[in-house]
Amino acid sequence: MAEKSKVLVIGGTGYIGKFIVEASAKSGHPTFALVRESTLSNPAKANIVEGFKSLGVDLVHGDIYDQESLLNAIKQVDVVISTVGIEQLEDQDKIVAAVKAAGNIKRFLPSEFGRDVDCVHAVEPAKAMFAIKAKIRRLVEAEGIPYTYVSSNSFAGWFLPTLAQPGVTAPPRDKVVILGDGNTKAVFNREIDIGTYTIKAVDDPRTLNKLLYIKPPANTYSINDLVYLWERKIGKTLERVYVPEEQVLKNIQEAAFPLNLMLAISHSVFVKGGQANVEIEPSFGVEASELYPDVKYTAVDQYLDQII
Ligand SMILES: NC(=O)c1ccc[n+]([C@@H]2O[C@H](COP(=O)([O-])OP(=O)(O)OC[C@H]3O[C@@H](n4cnc5c(N)ncnc54)[C@H](OP(=O)(O)O)[C@@H]3O)[C@@H](O)[C@H]2O)c1
Repeated sequence: MAEKSKVLVIGGTGYIGKFIVEASAKSGHPTFALVRESTLSNPAKANIVEGFKSLGVDLVHGDIYDQESLLNAIKQVDVVISTVGIEQLEDQDKIVAAVKAAGNIKRFLPSEFGRDVDCVHAVEPAKAMFAIKAKIRRLVEAEGIPYTYVSSNSFAGWFLPTLAQPGVTAPPRDKVVILGDGNTKAVFNREIDIGTYTIKAVDDPRTLNKLLYIKPPANTYSINDLVYLWERKIGKTLERVYVPEEQVLKNIQEAAFPLNLMLAISHSVFVKGGQANVEIEPSFGVEASELYPDVKYTAVDQYLDQII
């Protein structure tokens, strides 16, 4: 059997990064996480760091703004996965430059983990964020770096516990606010499954220079369908408050950061659509649950059972 690639995750202590680091280590890839000194001494990150150590993850000190540390980390591995957050998306050009300079990387996965940013309807500030991700794609391609872009669609943990109500923290029990008419379909994937599919792709020739869409059949729902499913589980009908698109756009303009970004992302996904009905063009796209039918992913229905 071919040896598993050595994987470096940059941003591994972040929200989605930790699932990817764990999936990598648990599936037997020698796994490295680039971690800043400040993160190691941050009590809020102690559990994550300890968890990595217990899985045998190699913690490499570094920072994307310190080119020497980046290069040193990249030279030790075969695959680089970036899961940096919104504020560092544009500065991934530094990672691309280091990958190019190192010359040993067999696959680079930039920080994507959302919708297909080459196929998107959005207003600001989401529009600019999607454009930055697209710009990094073009840079990777121009540099001739082998890549996989992971379009994981909506993180279940971000959206399902509130049935995608922006600014709300608990599951609805009496009333639910729905953006638009609630009929647009979206795709919700559990973070642990996103980690599993991402790591399966890193050594797979079928995902080389391709977009990996994570769009398993049981995870596509409109918000109206989600509400209906939730109502059956809690045995109660909720009051539905629909916010017309015009009002959603006004709310985005009036909100401060980061609520305006969350609202604009929600508008793009749950009003304009583009996750569920994206056309997968075989010359550049593949679907994860078709490539890896052995993965027992969590269906939305099961996920909701866990949050009742
Ligand atoms: N589809 C969805 O529903 C959804 C939802 C949210 C995010 N996303 C996408 O997922 C991707 C990752 O976002 P996230 O929310 O998981 O990110 P995050 O939680 O903000 O984590 C960012 C990571 O980058 C690290 N980092 C920050 N500055 C760094 C630097 N200078 N050098 C090295 N590392 C640095 C952070 O370290 P510390 O741990 O020390 O802070 C952290 O590990 C983004 O592309 C985002 O757009 C998608």
